[in-house]
Amino acid sequence: MNYFKLLFLFIALWTGTTLVQAQGFNWQEVEPGVWKGVVGKPESYDLLKASGATPNKAGLANIGKADFPLPQSEISAVVRDGKTYLRFPLEKKEQLYGFGLNFQTVHQRGKILQLHVDHYGGKDNGRTHAPVPFYVSSNGYGVFVNSARYLNVYAGSGVRVDSKNPPVAKDRNTDKSWTSRPYSDAVEILVPAEGVEVYVFGGPRPLDAVKRYNLFNGGGYLPPRWGLGFTQRVRTLYNEEQVKEEAKLFADKGYPLDFIGLEPGWQSKAYPCTFEWDKGRFPDPARFVKDMKNVGIRVNLWTNPYVSPEASIFKSIKPFTGSHSVWVGAVPDLTMPEAQKIFWNQFEKDHVNIGVSGYKIDEVDGYDHYLWPDIATFPSGISAEQMRQTYGLLVQKQSAELFKKNNTRTFGLVRASNGGGTSFPYVIYNDYYNHEDFITALINSGFAGVLWTPEVRASKTGEEWLRRFQSNVFSPMAMINAWASGTKPWTYPEVADQVKEMALLRMQMMPYWYTEFAKYHFEGTPPFRAMNLEDGFMMENKQEVAYASNVNLEENPYAEAVAKEVKDQYMAGEYLLVAPMFAGQTTRKVILPKGRWYDFYTGEFVGDGQVLTVTPGLDKIPVYVKDGGIIPMMPPMLHAPKAGEKVNLEIRHYGEKPGTYKLYDDDGETFDYEKGKFSWREVKVERQKNGKMKGTIAKAQAGKPNNFENVTWKFMTQK
Ligand code: GAL
Repeated sequence: MNYFKLLFLFIALWTGTTLVQAQGFNWQEVEPGVWKGVVGKPESYDLLKASGATPNKAGLANIGKADFPLPQSEISAVVRDGKTYLRFPLEKKEQLYGFGLNFQTVHQRGKILQLHVDHYGGKDNGRTHAPVPFYVSSNGYGVFVNSARYLNVYAGSGVRVDSKNPPVAKDRNTDKSWTSRPYSDAVEILVPAEGVEVYVFGGPRPLDAVKRYNLFNGGGYLPPRWGLGFTQRVRTLYNEEQVKEEAKLFADKGYPLDFIGLEPGWQSKAYPCTFEWDKGRFPDPARFVKDMKNVGIRVNLWTNPYVSPEASIFKSIKPFTGSHSVWVGAVPDLTMPEAQKIFWNQFEKDHVNIGVSGYKIDEVDGYDHYLWPDIATFPSGISAEQMRQTYGLLVQKQSAELFKKNNTRTFGLVRASNGGGTSFPYVIYNDYYNHEDFITALINSGFAGVLWTPEVRASKTGEEWLRRFQSNVFSPMAMINAWASGTKPWTYPEVADQVKEMALLRMQMMPYWYTEFAKYHFEGTPPFRAMNLEDGFMMENKQEVAYASNVNLEENPYAEAVAKEVKDQYMAGEYLLVAPMFAGQTTRKVILPKGRWYDFYTGEFVGDGQVLTVTPGLDKIPVYVKDGGIIPMMPPMLHAPKAGEKVNLEIRHYGEKPGTYKLYDDDGETFDYEKGKFSWREVKVERQKNGKMKGTIAKAQAGKPNNFENVTWKFMTQK
């Protein structure tokens, strides 16, 4: 024991106070710009264990070194009464983002949350599908608490008496500046365990911290090309003929379709599930999946993981299931190899081996009334709480391995995830249906290392249908979930043409989307992300401050969270700013970051770092391109190009600046890119002496995949 600890012990004994060990952290740089700190005795099961995330070392090395971004002496950790008390400093103007998939606010400073996996219940209180304990600061760093417990977060709300910047007490009777929420200078997190591992991610920009976090978790998943096409989830209880008929309608009417999702009804029993095909509705599943593939459409299967007493695996898996059932189905303890083997063998045998392309894994989030209670026990000894926090991670990781084994990529849907889940092939969705909040969730997904789809299900009017469809096309998964409504893209005849145009635009943009997802994988940049991560947008700049003009941020930094914040526009890939329209709106404000911006559809200059008021009409979702932006496009095909299929490439350039782009290419279906079978082709647009723009693209390297031919250039901005 060193001198200080002895002295501390002495004082503690002398004053009669309980001995509280202020361990502090011993920071160790585990990757460039990533530090790990350990306090107390961390539990053996945590988020990184559950997810098995392994860092993308090459990607992290590329971002390079950073300074430790916080004053170390101001971070404290104390273990007391079986719990760990964490404290991180905050500066006056600092803003916070993240803490998982929130739906209603982007700014988190001032929030009190209990991070808890659950179906989103309409309030940002920490209960959400991916309550990732990771936050990002506008000062350019990130903090991740690697715990699979429910965490209490005070994100700049508690006022400590030992604060560096203590607020002064004011007299409410006489002082107009009195506030019910005096200034707080700390993020404090209570971890219900006797120790925890914490990671700090360096900047310098907030986006760098996000990239480091994503790469530390393996980088984003590189979806198969078809995963970025269109998907339709058909009505529950559909049989083989009905599915085929629906697919045929898409083809006949000329709407793109890459995969169809079967909802409850393909299994002999559901809620709980058998994971076996229903022989009446699907007499020959292998033939069905093959027939679909022959017309260019893959099959995705809905399921929840709760095992029906009538499932053939029920007896064998029973010893490896929890003390409580869900809908009277057994809950496999998926931390146990025995349970994993029995469970996933069934999936492999009946689905993956006949060519099923992926899953939608439902009901792994909540609600409390359905799921196992916190008092449940599991044979592995993992607590019900930890199981709840990580079940989404476990099903994603383990199902992904079924496809990886076959060197085939998958892409599906899941309703729960958590920290460490960045590299899984899943997009989160839910049953909530507020279009505005869906967009805010899309923005926040970029701070949480997860993907989110603002799925379209049904609408009151054609206008709403089109508005929802437009934003869905600018999201990770373009889809209709018609499980209850039976809707199709053309269900509202008055907007059927516009919907088709949007769906085809999604297909045209596939080279762009695919490259942006490759950047998520190799560089950690979230393909869909907040304006706050965009250079020239931060609150120090006039735009955001103007938006929250009635708020004095210096005096009251968390006020912005309650002020009207920018939560309805976002960045999609490197160059696009998307500003969705909502039903009932004919006009909206768009906040442009500093720099010149151009209309995506016409190439016209729209503004430079200002607040626009736009009236786009019903047919268009406002989309803007950064000066020098390059968008690679292909023809509007009905299915994603197959491995090796050559498509024409149209490269669009916007604005007056020269432009550069790195176009990603590989076979689009396998993991061969992990063995070097991929390419980044440099695209350049330069102004020639005669004032005209000229584009060049690096030749496809011999021996590398090349899916493009016949490059044409479109200089969208005419001088
Ligand atoms: C819900 C799910 C829906 C749909 C439905 C089918 O839990 O969120 O998208 O799949 O189950 O019963």
